[in-house]
Amino acid sequence: MPVLLQLDSSADLEESRSRSITRAFAAGWQAAGAEFTVVERDLHLDPLPHLPDASLHWPVELRRAGSKPPIDAVRLQRELLDELLAADALVVGAPMYNYSMPSSLKAWIDYIHVPGITASYEGSARPLEGRPAVIVQSRGGSYDEGSATEGWDHGVPPLQLILGDALGMAVTVLTASLTLADDLPGLADRRDRSHEELAMALSRAAELGTYLAADVAR
Ligand SMILES: Cc1cc2nc3c(=O)[nH]c(=O)nc-3n(C[C@H](O)[C@H](O)[C@H](O)COP(=O)(O)O)c2cc1C
Repeated sequence: MPVLLQLDSSADLEESRSRSITRAFAAGWQAAGAEFTVVERDLHLDPLPHLPDASLHWPVELRRAGSKPPIDAVRLQRELLDELLAADALVVGAPMYNYSMPSSLKAWIDYIHVPGITASYEGSARPLEGRPAVIVQSRGGSYDEGSATEGWDHGVPPLQLILGDALGMAVTVLTASLTLADDLPGLADRRDRSHEELAMALSRAAELGTYLAADVAR
């Protein structure tokens, strides 16, 4: 039974673009057949506590002697790790908040990036190697190459580093820029591009969901 883990982190429950795109991806995944299931985790509605103890970044055998992380946090981390490790694919809604990712999503990253468990430690195998991870970034402005805001996106690069470089997942990024063009008069002349990017991201998400589901099943 191939499982997709769908993470959302937008604090907008009405008009969120990232939520609409992760939903389109999940619908594409489910369209591949009744056995393709989706596990949803809403990091905004059901926020994780900040990592309460630095020792949780390490597996038990690599922790400093005498470290005693709170038992509730140990259990929560185990649940999050099991959920991720059981997933055949991951889709992550990652709206740009203050040029970065929502703190609710960052908290999840802090729990699941564990050298020796999800990431390699001294050459250990990576259990998520090659599994697909789709990052969905919605952002109010634009961050084009050659523009004044090039390089201001600090949301997608750390997700690519952790999920791709550290965990070895096969990362794809879907982007919807200029999502504030309908609301901000200063961006009114860029509405067409905003609508086009959203439509493109929605259709790519649906296609990719079905394609990756078929690929995982092979
Ligand atoms: C707390 C907060 C901070 C934001 N910071 C930025 C920002 O730094 N750059 C930007 O382009 N848009 C920013 N925005 C706008 C969002 O990126 C935009 O509304 C996006 O569509 C949010 O994703 P969503 O539609 O999935 O909710 C911010 C929005 C919020 C709520």
